[in-house]
Formats: sequence, C-alpha cells, structure tokens
Amino acid sequence: MKNPIKSSTNPETKSDDAKFETLQKKNEEALEGGGKKRIQAQHEKGKLTARERIRLLLDEGSFEETGKFVTHRSKEFGLDQQLYLGDGVVTGYGTIHGRLVYVFSQDFTVFGGSLSEAHAEKIVKIMDLAMKNGAPIIGLNDSGGARIQEGVVSLAGYADIFYRNTRASGVVPQISAIMGPCAGGAVYSPAITDFIFMVEKTSYMFVTGPNVVKTVTQEDVSAEELGGASTHSTKSGVTHFACRNELECIQHIKKLLTYIPQNCEDEAPRVAYEPADEARPTLNNIVPSSPNQPYDMRDVVKGIVDAGDFFEVHQNFAENIIVGFARIGGRSIGIVGNQPAALAGVLDIKASLKGARFVRFCDAFNIPLLVLEDVPGFLPGTDQEWNAIITNGAKLLYAFSEATVPRVTVITRKAYGGAYDVMNSKHIGADLNYAWPSAEIAVMGAKGAAEIIFRREISEAEDQEAKLQEKIEDYTAKFANPYMAASRGYIDEVIYPEETRMKLIRAFKMLENKVDQLPRKKHGNIPL
Ligand code: HXC
Repeated sequence: MKNPIKSSTNPETKSDDAKFETLQKKNEEALEGGGKKRIQAQHEKGKLTARERIRLLLDEGSFEETGKFVTHRSKEFGLDQQLYLGDGVVTGYGTIHGRLVYVFSQDFTVFGGSLSEAHAEKIVKIMDLAMKNGAPIIGLNDSGGARIQEGVVSLAGYADIFYRNTRASGVVPQISAIMGPCAGGAVYSPAITDFIFMVEKTSYMFVTGPNVVKTVTQEDVSAEELGGASTHSTKSGVTHFACRNELECIQHIKKLLTYIPQNCEDEAPRVAYEPADEARPTLNNIVPSSPNQPYDMRDVVKGIVDAGDFFEVHQNFAENIIVGFARIGGRSIGIVGNQPAALAGVLDIKASLKGARFVRFCDAFNIPLLVLEDVPGFLPGTDQEWNAIITNGAKLLYAFSEATVPRVTVITRKAYGGAYDVMNSKHIGADLNYAWPSAEIAVMGAKGAAEIIFRREISEAEDQEAKLQEKIEDYTAKFANPYMAASRGYIDEVIYPEETRMKLIRAFKMLENKVDQLPRKKHGNIPL
C-alpha cells in the first residue's frame, strides 16, 4: 500500500504524520516475524516463511490480514521481554481462483511457531468467521507445538481449536498443510480436518518424537522414518498427499479446491467440457480376457472423465483401492475404484478406511459418487480378522449406505460376495448400476464355487481335474456374467465399455436434482 506519510506536506497534518509513522513501523515490524536471522535459518532448511506461503497460496493482492499486532500475554520465563507482533501466526482471508478462503500460517521464526493463548485465539477467530461465512479453512502448520512457557493456557488454546475443527467438520472444507514439525497434541487438529498435505523431508507429524520413543520402547527411529511424509502417505495413511516441496504442496491445495464447494450448502464449480456424444473405443480393450489378469483401473478412469484428468487422493496408501476427484460433463465427481493392479483389488482394512473416509467427504459436500467395481471380495486371514476387518469393512458399507448424493456404479469385471453389496450396489441406495459385458456378479469365483458345491461329485470322479473343469465351466456359464443380475433389475443396463462416458454424463445430469434424506436422528453410529 502507498505510504501516506511520504505524500503529506501540509504542516497541519504533522500529528497525523506521526501516527501514520507509528502504524508504518508496526507494520514493518510485524512483517519481520522473528527477525532476519531466523528467516534466513528457515530458508536454509529449504522452508518458506509463513507470509511467503500465503503469498503463493492466495490470488495476488487478495490477502486481508487479521490480528497482525496481537502479542502474547505471558510474563513467565522472561517472555515479557520477547514480544513479536502477530505472535507466531499469520491469519486472515483472501481468494483462490476468485473464491473466498480463510487461512492461518504458523510462523516458525517466532518461538518456533509454538501455540500460545493469543496465537490460538487468532486461529479460532478466523475459524469462526469461516463457519459463519461458509468458506474453506486452510491451515499451514509449522510449529513446535504447545508454547512450553505458557503451560495449560496453551493446551486450552489447542482444545479451542480441536472443538472448532469438529464443529466445522462437514460444514466447510478444512485443509491442513504440514510444512514443518507438527508434534504432540498439535497433530490432532490436522487429523480432524478433511485433507492433510505433507512436504517430503521438511515436515513430520507424531504424537511423541524419536527421543521419547527411544526412552519408552527402546526403538531407534529417525523423525523422518517415524512421522515423515513418506511414512504417513504409505504406512499410516494419516496424510493424503506427499509433496516434493512447498510449491507443489500449495499447487495441489489450489487444485483440490477447484473440485469442491465452499460449504455443505454449496455445489462444486462447473467447468466447460468436451462434446457429450464422444465414444471411447479404448475402453473396450482394457479388461483382459482372463479373470485373473490385472489391469490398471486408472486407465478406465482416464477413458471416462473430462480431459482424462484424475486428481487422485491417498495415492500411495491402500493401493488396492483408488479414490479421487474428476469431472464428468463439467461436473465434479468423486471416484472410488477397486484396483485390480494391486492385490487383485481386494478389500482389506486399509482400503475400507480409505474408501469410507472419501465417500463421507463427498457426501458431506454434495459431490456425486462414481464407483468402478472389480473386486474379488474381502481379504481373508488372521491378520485381517484379528485387526477387525469386520468393523472396518462395515465402515465402507455404512458410508455408502448413508450417502444421499447421486451415486452410480459401473461393474467392469468381478463383483463377488459381500463386496458386491458393499461397493455401491443398488440394494444400498445407488441410483444407477451399469455392468460391462465382462462383468461377473456372483457369490464367489467359479473355481472356488465349483470346489465347494461339487466337492463330493469331483472327489468321486475318475478324472477329478476334468470334472472340476467341467463344473467350473458350468458355473461360469450360469453366474460369471452380468445377465442374472440384469434379469433381476440389480443392473440397470449392460453397456459397451466405449459408451460408458456418454452414459455417465447423462446419468449424472439426470440425477442433478436428486433429493434424498436420512431418517430424522441426532447422528448415526458408524462402527468406529
Ligand atoms: C516455545 C519453542 C517451542 C515450544 C520450539 N521453540 N518449540 N518455544 N515452545 N514448544 C523455540 C525454540 O526455543 C527456538 O527459539 C525456536 O523455537 C526454534 O527451535 P529450535 O529447537 O532451534 O528449532 P529446530 O532445531 O528446528 O527444532 C524444532 C523442534 C524443537 C523439533 C520443534 O524445537 C522441539 O522439539 N520443540 C519442542 C517440541 C515439543 O516438545 N513441543 C511440545 C509438544 S506437547 P529461539 O529463540 O532459539 O529461536 C504439545 C501438547 C499439545 O504440543 C497438547 C494438545 C492436546
């Protein structure tokens, strides 16, 4: 902004000049954060400052800051001698692609971005504004956790934030970027938000750091291994996106926002799309002739969606299921697909959790769901049973069953057993179900079925192998196809793969005014 002091020559405005000068000095001081040395140290670690991050995130010139001159109130441990304007967090609002967002960005150069009472109040203030005005909240986290000198007051500040994260859940989208340390209770605010982004090598999240781990469990583990971006994007699934650097992280956040609405009453933005009647012959050749051969469900996605553009979420976690955003006919949709290229697309605990969380986000924010199904069933074994595949698989079933957004399924190949029911079948409320001619909708695969129901006949046969083969062929002819399900109306239409995109454009257009409600209740009791 132009400096009014410099342009004033009238002697009568002198006292105003002094006031303006005070303001200018304070503004400059606030911009310095913890000082040049600490900013340099931040840069040397390969990290940007809180303000640099905001500048990259928001539309140019759109940022309006709140609480710029806030300071902490603590007098303990000499803190009264260390006051920094803004108290370690930059807060405010602005726009991304012209749409309103609220943002807080922790400033590691001030007390390591640690959370004081005043710091927490600033975050709470913009969260309250975001809730009242119906716009996303983006938190750029870079903090040493609770301001140690403040004690319980700081813990109270965290709790105030957690409470609002929970209240805001399902009302406005909440996005967390982890761009530095995030330790102790500090991880629980991001954990309640809808999406977590982490930056490789410079960010980590854990409840207790490597030193405490060593003391308690005698494990030797580095911070990166314990809670770095790679760990959380592949092993724990805590983070949805692992980004190579901060710039990529910010670009991904901006892209995500293009697919989602401002709040739960809003709809995602629409964009222009290519002609609707375009057949996609490449889809005819994706599913291999052998039921046991893998293929990449992403190829199906690419053949169906606008411009082949799929924004995948949780890409490296539970790779046997894929989830993400795309557009069909210019409308934003959420895609959940079994992935035959990983573990044959089987549903296990992690895949169920990943799918359920994504389905619930889409349902909360009016984003229609497309399911691409090729699933051999739930994964058997003691590991899965003892770790509660029953409860966890039920989460996915529950999430689909309670979703009231438009829901369409395309069965590309296997739809076996309970997994057929779970993966957005018509029986649990899907609006339209299509099957490709390669679909096999049955209780289980033909070999397994033949071995069970014809066991005696096979064991008594002279040539057991030939008998088994005969029974497999028998079962395949009867059940390993989509026509039994279609004859019951469980499948609305068996379609040629190449016409899938066309069918889906029409289906989602037809469903755009869908009204559906859950029975009146306080809230359901998803099997957590
Ligand atoms: C106050 C802190 C601080 C904190 C760091 N600083 N963490 N000040 N409270 N929690 C200050 C340091 O004194 C230092 O100040 C500056 O920030 C940078 O810290 P360094 O240690 O020099 O940086 P670095 O080597 O990069 O290490 C970063 C760090 C480390 C890994 C975050 O500082 C650290 O371990 N901090 C403590 C983490 C922690 O235990 N937090 C409490 C978690 S419990 P100067 O003046 O030198 O620049 C918690 C409970 C919440 O959060 C519960 C909610 C339910």
